[in-house]
Formats: sequence, structure tokens, C-alpha cells
Amino acid sequence: MLSQLLLVASATIAALVAAQSADITGSVGPLTSIALKQAVKTCDITDYGAKADGKTDISSALTDAFTACKSGGVVVIPTGNYALGIWVSLSGGNAWALQLDGTILRTGTAGGNMIMIQHGTDFELFSSTGKGAMQGYGYEYHKNSDTSGPRLLRMYEMTSFSVHDITLVDSPLFHFSMDTCDSGEVYNMAIRGGNQGGLDGIDVWSTNIWIHDIMVTNKDECVTVKSPSKNILVEQVYCNWSGGCAMGSLGADVNVSDITYKNIYTWSSNQMYMIKSNGGSGTVDNVVLENFIGHGNAYSLDIDQYWSSMKAVAGDGVQLNNIQVLNWTGTETNGAQRGPIKILCADGAPCTGVDITDFAMWTETGSTQVYQCQSAYTNLHRSPALFCLSGGSDHVAYEVKKTTVTSAPAGYEAPTMADDLASVPWGTTEEIPIPTMPTSFFPGTLPLKPLAGSS
Ligand SMILES: *[C@@H]1O[C@H](CO)[C@@H](O)[C@H](O)[C@H]1NC(C)=O
Ligand SMILES: *[C@@H]1O[C@H](CO)[C@@H](O)[C@H](O)[C@H]1NC(C)=O
Ligand SMILES: *[C@@H]1O[C@H](CO)[C@@H](O)[C@H](O)[C@H]1NC(C)=O
Repeated sequence: MLSQLLLVASATIAALVAAQSADITGSVGPLTSIALKQAVKTCDITDYGAKADGKTDISSALTDAFTACKSGGVVVIPTGNYALGIWVSLSGGNAWALQLDGTILRTGTAGGNMIMIQHGTDFELFSSTGKGAMQGYGYEYHKNSDTSGPRLLRMYEMTSFSVHDITLVDSPLFHFSMDTCDSGEVYNMAIRGGNQGGLDGIDVWSTNIWIHDIMVTNKDECVTVKSPSKNILVEQVYCNWSGGCAMGSLGADVNVSDITYKNIYTWSSNQMYMIKSNGGSGTVDNVVLENFIGHGNAYSLDIDQYWSSMKAVAGDGVQLNNIQVLNWTGTETNGAQRGPIKILCADGAPCTGVDITDFAMWTETGSTQVYQCQSAYTNLHRSPALFCLSGGSDHVAYEVKKTTVTSAPAGYEAPTMADDLASVPWGTTEEIPIPTMPTSFFPGTLPLKPLAGSS
């Protein structure tokens, strides 16, 4: 008994140490306050020819305002509806901000990125009222099964920046992707897309990024990390009828480390967390998946290194090492069909250091659930091995091993959110309304930073 307690205690300490080392390092976000930037200069796009009529293209007004304010200043898009017909690239700013209090409506039809912000530093994209939005009218493409439209927002090679208190709606393609960036903070955002794949919420591959208090409604990636990435902290995310959060798809020469997801609430999604690959090479080190609540999801923990939706990539498989799964509660749709633990590691690169602690989930249908593992190894100190994981240090490949559970684990019950969607509210053929910002993104917690306009 005592030795078992000690084993559990040492596992918990190991997990805590891992959790700390996986956080962001140093500061994230802009270096200069909005007040100081305003004191330098303010460039209101309506002074550069923009009209809030929802029809006149604002691209040149926005670009001209940026040119005037990009070396220190705030570009302002005031309240009102503004048409964007030609996509803009805002490149090379320093100590600037983009204040989006109005709504940008997509009127153009090109592919690419409606707004691309790149090669800049000390930047802030925000709404002072919490009502700024981009409306992509993606349904105009989706109703014709057309995937040629743009993403709404892309950040590339930005450092020391933040994006907050804005809403992204119905992107023709991905909503927000952030790549090759450093020291950024993204928070207080609502993202609502159509009910089909390929309309990702947030995709990030970068270094030292803090993403928190985000709600995503769509049917693909909620907040997803791709390679290469290092030091990414994602917390207080509400995947509200979504694909769910994930890592991947991971292909060749993967280089991902120190990634923490914490306080993640997933409702009616494809999974609570998925790591997906098929073949490939490289490593994923030090991942913490902590305090997850799920209800009504197909999969829960889903590590699939033979992911059939992905074409196999050359290589023995991506090596996953030190994956800490802590404190998961809630229910899955059908635990006999799709159990709450599915860890299928590559036979050519068995997973090592997979630890599952305080995991209590139960099925919403029937009275059994299945845990399945393949070539997945837990840490040596976790003996006897828990769930379907193998112990030992030989790390040889093994075939799928299933454990069937016939009674609910203690303490699986978990709260729901008042805003949970009862059914899929909008599809792909009609305009999607702009939501209001939720007041909470995880049961029992407030946003880590106050919502804009909430004084
Ligand atoms: C992985 O990325 C880190 C920076 O995040 C870099 O220092 C390291 O060299 C990379 N490793 C490989 C194998 O590419
Ligand atoms: C486990 O997660 C729940 C939220 O689901 C949280 O309230 C609780 O404090 C967590 N427990 C620990 C030990 O962190
Ligand atoms: C999530 O669902 C609720 C309930 O319908 C809704 O009010 C909320 O706007 C949804 N979230 C998003 C981001 O659409």
C-alpha cells in the first residue's frame, strides 16, 4: 500500500515538473502599450478614404493608414461595416497596432489571406469594444463545395505581438493561422465557422506563444499545434461543436517540444485531443494535457500514428516522448465503439514516457468502454502499467492491446457549460451570424484577462 502511494506521489511530482518545464518562457505580447502608441500617432482608415458602407473596398485605405502608422502608431478601423475586396499584406511594422472596432466583410473572391500581417514586431491587433469582427461569408463557397476561398487572418514572422478581443466568422478556409512567430499572446476570441472540415479555428507553428480564452465552433481544428513549435501554452479553450484540439498532422522531420494544453472544455466534437500522423520522422517531446473536460465527443484522448485520413509519409514514425495526460473527466458518446483512451503509436518508433494520471471518463451509451494501446510505453516508475500502456524499458513494438471497462470510474462526472449547443445550429448554406464573446471559456473560470468592453 505504502509503496503504491509512493509510486503515485513520485509520478505526480514528475508530472508537475514536466508541466512547469513545458510552459512559455519569458514574456509574450507587445512591448509598447496602446496609450504610448496612440500618443505617437493615430491613423483612422476613414481619413484615408474608407467608407463604412459595407460596399466600398477598403484595401487601399487600410494599406495607406498602415504606411502612415507602421513605424509607431495605431491604425483604427472604427465601428461600422467595411468591405474588403482585395486582400492586404501589412508587412514590416514596428511598435504599431491595428484597432478593429468595426466589422470587415469579405467581398473579394481571391484565395490566399484576407489580412496577412508579417515581418513586424511589437504589434497588437485588438478591438477596444470586444465587438470587432471579420465576416468571411464562407457559406457562399461551401454551399457549392468550393474550397478556393481565402483564410481570414494569417500572421507570419511576427515577434512580440498580441491578438485579442476580436471575433472571426465563417471563413471560406482556415480562420487564423500563425506561423514562424515568436513571443505572441492570443486571447479573448470567438471563432465560428461552417459545419465542415478544412475550416480550422487556430493553427499555430511558432515559438513561445500563449493562447488563452478562445471559443471555437466549426467542424475541424479547434486550437492546433503544428511542427515546428516550441514553448506553447494553450489554456481555457471552449471547443463548442468543433473538430477538437490537436497536434498535427505531423510529417517528416517533426520538431515539437514543450507544449501544454490546460483547462480545455470540449463539447460535441470529433475528439478532446488528437496527435495525428502516419509515418514520418522527428520528435515530439514534453507535452502536457491537463484538466480536460469533455461531453458528447466521438474520441477523447486519441493518439493515432496510423491516421487513415493522412497519406503515409516516408519514415518509421514520429517519436513521441514524455506525454503527460492529467486530470481528465467527463463522458464520451459511445465508449465501446470509441473508447476514451486510444493510443496507437508507430511500431517503428514506439512512444515513451506516456503517463496518464487522474483520468476518469465514462460512456454516455451502454455500459462498457475500451482503452486501446499499441507500441505505447509508460515511465518505468509507473508499475504496474496503467490503462493499456506497457511498462518496461525495452520499448519494442506491440500489437493493439485492448482493455474493456465495465463500470464507471469514480469521479468521472464533470460540469457542462451554459452555452453548449444542443444541435448543430448552422450548416454551410446560410449566412452565419456573428456571435457575442462568451463570458467564460472553461467551467468555473473567468477569462485570464478582462474582456474588452466589459468594464
Ligand atoms: C528543433 O528546434 C529547435 C528550436 O526550437 C532547434 O534549436 C533545434 O535545432 C531543432 N532540432 C532539429 C532536429 O531540427
Ligand atoms: C482537475 O480539473 C478540474 C477541472 O476539470 C479542476 O477543477 C481541478 O482543480 C483539477 N484538479 C487538480 C488536482 O488540478
Ligand atoms: C457556442 O454555443 C452557444 C449556444 O448556442 C452560442 O451562444 C455560442 O455563440 C457558441 N459559440 C460560438 C463561438 O459560436
